[in-house]
Amino acid sequence: TLPGTGYRRDMPDQPETTMPPLFTWDFAADPYPAYAWLREHAPVHRTTLPSGVEAWLVTRYADARQALADGRLSKNPLHHSGQAHRTGRVGIPGERQADLMTHLLNIDPPDHTRLRRLVSKAFTPRRVAEFEPRVQQLTDRLIDSFAARGSADLIHEFAFPLPIYAICDLLGVPSEDQDDFRDWAGMMIRHGGGPRGGVARAVKRMRGYLLELIHRKRADLGDDLISGLIRASDHGEHLTENEAAAMAFILLFAGFETTVNLIGNGMYALLRNPGQRTLLQESLGRGEQGLLATGVEELLRYDGPVELATWRFATAPVRIGAADIPVGDPVLVVLAAADRDPDRFAEENTLDLARQDNPHLGFGHGIHYCIGAPLARLEGQRALATLLTRLPDLQLAAEPEELRWRGGLIMRGLRELPVSFTPES
Ligand code: HEM
Repeated sequence: TLPGTGYRRDMPDQPETTMPPLFTWDFAADPYPAYAWLREHAPVHRTTLPSGVEAWLVTRYADARQALADGRLSKNPLHHSGQAHRTGRVGIPGERQADLMTHLLNIDPPDHTRLRRLVSKAFTPRRVAEFEPRVQQLTDRLIDSFAARGSADLIHEFAFPLPIYAICDLLGVPSEDQDDFRDWAGMMIRHGGGPRGGVARAVKRMRGYLLELIHRKRADLGDDLISGLIRASDHGEHLTENEAAAMAFILLFAGFETTVNLIGNGMYALLRNPGQRTLLQESLGRGEQGLLATGVEELLRYDGPVELATWRFATAPVRIGAADIPVGDPVLVVLAAADRDPDRFAEENTLDLARQDNPHLGFGHGIHYCIGAPLARLEGQRALATLLTRLPDLQLAAEPEELRWRGGLIMRGLRELPVSFTPES
């Protein structure tokens, strides 16, 4: 087993007619051939996950879209017949122990409707648009820290800190406390697929801090998102302090590793597709933003940050495709497989930054559609455009086979992305 992943290193050669092994080392590096097989031969497939939990994998685009919008599939882990939430085997690592479960990705209407309406009032597209200069400043500051060196690990030195500082700013975490968040987030991501002790500790500290911050803000409301949440809840909508802390937590959690992976997977895909990368650089050089915008959508489709959507549990017998899902069974919608379905996407395995017809599922679909999508797009666009403009000859400083992918179930991302370039003078 590979450390911290639960993946097996060895796998016998399989004839093409049998199912390729899932959750192995090779699968983590490139899951797409296995997903193509599943889409073709077993589009709704019950399997045992590395954690021992049994779940259905949904891999076709049409089925995935249907499942994501199906109200009979609950987000509440209490609906799992296997009660795996008690052992922390479903859900976000650490949340159970720290009592942060009442967040958007774990609840159904009507509570979901109430909390989502509340956060939507505070987390508006306008607030995000006004945030653009700050994101650009953060991006430039991080690139400044390694530009003169001629080499960098883009995950640790760039993709990782950028979204942490961005979300902390947005929430209203004072700058002197933001490095604590960087440490806690580091503990959470490092232990993502492995021992839970570190995660639980990090989440506990984060929760304590957030509760205290919410108290302080209540006495002195500002212009930030936490103040916005408090204000919205004071105008008739009800929001308990635990719910507010859980909301801040899920914004951090859902907005952090995802954005790391958009920048990491996105830059990696560009480095491996030099023709597309050149087109993008030329278009940025002409001051155009169009290819950048469609390009980020295509990167979300081609190798998106969220490989599998978060857990869903059948509260009634549900038929998806030809499969009958019994009550209490977990359903995992494989966004990465759906977004390469040849029945929906022409040239599904080709990176085409100019792709127009691109209703990808990278941000999900239905009532749980990503509330942070405008911020994610802003960060992804600024990060990739600034890297390609300031460090135009950026290149991969390792063989693709040497790169290690994280072995978590939900997210897909690199552990490191070493690059070299002509130092900025
Ligand atoms: C939900 C993807 C960035 C906050 C989701 C879902 C996906 C997703 C697929 C739906 C999950 C499901 O239905 O199981 C992404 C990607 C991102 C990103 C690919 C970056 C590239 C962000 C950011 C934030 C955020 C920056 C906030 C700061 C949320 C929240 C939800 C969510 C709160 C839950 C919404 C609900 O349940 O109503 N995201 N996300 N995400 N995302 Fe994002």
